[in-house]
Amino acid sequence: MLNHKDVLGLYDLSAEEIDEILSVGMSMKKLLKQNIKRLPHLQGKSVTTLFYENSTRTRCSFELAAKYMGAHVVNIAAASSSVQKGETLIDTGKTLDAMKNDVIVIRHPMGGAPRLLAKTVKAHVVNAGDGMNEHPSQALLDMLTMRENFGRIAGLKVAILGDISHSRVAKSNLFGLKKLGAEVTMYAPRTLLPTGIGQMGAKVCASREEAVEGADVVMGLRIQLERQHAGNFPSLGEYAGFYGVDDGVMRYAKKGALVMHPGPVNRGVELTSALIDGDTSRIEEQVLSGIAVRMAILFLLTKEEV
Ligand code: CP
Repeated sequence: MLNHKDVLGLYDLSAEEIDEILSVGMSMKKLLKQNIKRLPHLQGKSVTTLFYENSTRTRCSFELAAKYMGAHVVNIAAASSSVQKGETLIDTGKTLDAMKNDVIVIRHPMGGAPRLLAKTVKAHVVNAGDGMNEHPSQALLDMLTMRENFGRIAGLKVAILGDISHSRVAKSNLFGLKKLGAEVTMYAPRTLLPTGIGQMGAKVCASREEAVEGADVVMGLRIQLERQHAGNFPSLGEYAGFYGVDDGVMRYAKKGALVMHPGPVNRGVELTSALIDGDTSRIEEQVLSGIAVRMAILFLLTKEEV
């Protein structure tokens, strides 16, 4: 049971709530690994995915998570909805509420849109990524993957490299990992490093090597070209050479350190293809963790109190 009606970000959730989502997610993942995809937890519930931005992993993963637990699922892409006729987010939310939706999963380009929706509707709202703010289910699936591999989060050193400024994934991971006792180091071009990230708990490093030194996990981030309005680095080639993750950088991490990326990945830019497809990569594992953790979120939000 969560103490919140909605899951809007890991800034809001307590360490205990995050821990509970991860514990239920671990159980769900064990079932998924046995190919068990018919569970009763959401029977009689309806879940709507409302996406104002493109997505492959997150939308598909929430849909499968809900369906594997027996929910009715409706998918709305803003491009083909009444949003195109000028309907506001609040009116769209009220319409979905009137249809007795239990959960609305929303992705929106504006930070704060899920919170606005959550204030307006009776349904539980899950943030599937809002602008440059948070992407809580992504960070939870990253943490689930780490916990599965290391048996814990506390004491891990996680290095996050890349476009931190535009990354909702980096911020959610920072909040969640710090609450569970991990150390988070970051390295990015100065133009892609938000002011105040150090005060939020990250150790901002002066080089890739410093950030990765002794790391258990090295996470690359996608360069979010769609959110950049100015040239923040000279070229993709130079970005890869100075800020990307390759074998040379990984030599500074712990032996066997895991390579992670939220996807979609720009091969050869944020990570080399050899690392993406190598033994230490957990990128595909993250995708399965995504369904498991989203099953846990949907279940814990809609679970009736006894
Ligand atoms: N990681 C992630 O959010 O991927 P999608 O944009 O494909 O959902």
